[in-house]
Amino acid sequence: MDPQLVARPLGSPVAWLLGSPAVPDERSSLPKTASYEADPDEVGRVLLLYSGGLDTSVMLKWIQDHYQAEVVALTVDLGQPGEDFDVIRGKALDLGALDCLVVDAREEFAHGYVLPAIRANARYGGGYPLFTALGRPLIAKLAVDTARESGCDTIAHGCTGKGNDQVRIEATVAALGPELRIIAPVRGWRMGRQEEIEYARAHGIPVKGGTEVPPYSIDDNLWGRSSEGGPIEDLSEPPREDVFDLVTPPEDAPDEPELVEIEFERGCPVAIGGERLGLVELLERAGQIGARHGVGIVDHIEDRIVGLKVRDIYEVPAAELILTAHAELEKLVGTIHQNTFKPELDRHWAFLVYAGLWHEPLLDDLNAFMDRVNAQVTGTITLKLYKGSAKPVSRSSPNALYDPELAGFGESGGLFSQQASPGFIELWSLQSRMAYAVRRRGMEGS
Ligand code: ARG
Repeated sequence: MDPQLVARPLGSPVAWLLGSPAVPDERSSLPKTASYEADPDEVGRVLLLYSGGLDTSVMLKWIQDHYQAEVVALTVDLGQPGEDFDVIRGKALDLGALDCLVVDAREEFAHGYVLPAIRANARYGGGYPLFTALGRPLIAKLAVDTARESGCDTIAHGCTGKGNDQVRIEATVAALGPELRIIAPVRGWRMGRQEEIEYARAHGIPVKGGTEVPPYSIDDNLWGRSSEGGPIEDLSEPPREDVFDLVTPPEDAPDEPELVEIEFERGCPVAIGGERLGLVELLERAGQIGARHGVGIVDHIEDRIVGLKVRDIYEVPAAELILTAHAELEKLVGTIHQNTFKPELDRHWAFLVYAGLWHEPLLDDLNAFMDRVNAQVTGTITLKLYKGSAKPVSRSSPNALYDPELAGFGESGGLFSQQASPGFIELWSLQSRMAYAVRRRGMEGS
């Protein structure tokens, strides 16, 4: 429960929602609520998921002070642009970490996490391509591996108690490392942003941006970037210009449209603009091309799994290009039955991943289905990029179910016969016509 809510006086508008009287504020006196949470005196050495930002830097010190524990830091490279991992590592060591490991996980992220999402056309809520949700289970898996290798008994992360990320990380750790325990200090330490900055100052932790409190909570990797919080929370206002970091505002994008060809083999993008590239490079290239044309800005109201609604500003140029082209190609090679059925499973896939259930067996079952369908998804889609839009304008595939000759459009004795159409219509409409007649009879009789 959000401690801020608990702390409100009784009789406040939210008291009835809570169903129980307000309890004293002392968070540390609360018993742990899940079996995998660490008892403070059990904590010996902590593996901290470290981004180099304010929260996790404060945590690095705070854990050493409050648990008298050693800290090993882990930083994961998922292709977040403009990050200097040497600087992050140096900062962790300065703050007293025993070690700071930097893992370049871009290849594994692209092939093991983003590619299945492409094959499942994954956009949660119709707009969010899940880059954060895809990254968390990989980060948590690497945390479990590294904790074991470095003799840690506990994993610490910097997620708040309000979001989805805590669910994704803890669900994965609890599944893969049942012997490990978890602490999430930000959930309980009751410091606001300003108090954290004061704590940082007092403990010699360098704070980026001086006294300016950064207005947004940012997360990014090679599949996209999100901004939440601050002025974005005012739903009645359009996003401020200072939110955007990746994508050119569509109105400032080039006046000339650009055609870009994207080639797929078995649902995997293999070439862009005629150049064959490895998946990581290809996704980065797609992001650059899309960003230049103002493509991939999504202003999204989202249902979090913890019950809150949130507004996110997403910048997802790579996902916009690749998912648009993939869906178009998949439609071209699928039958009417496959094309009406698969989007339902795609939605379910996106929900499970959004909801942090990466190790749910149903996801494996769905992946088997996605792979099977995608065995046909080979060919090329050309997109026209222009001032924020990416539209398919040409298509080709050896597996296309679009074959004028085979279907015999021209009465040439192909598989399709126009003479057969009236008979088809008679039978196809039979039940509907009967129902219509029966209902009309009923109305006349009343
Ligand atoms: N709303 C998105 C999600 O739940 C993005 C979260 C971004 N995370 C963050 N710590 N800012 O996946």
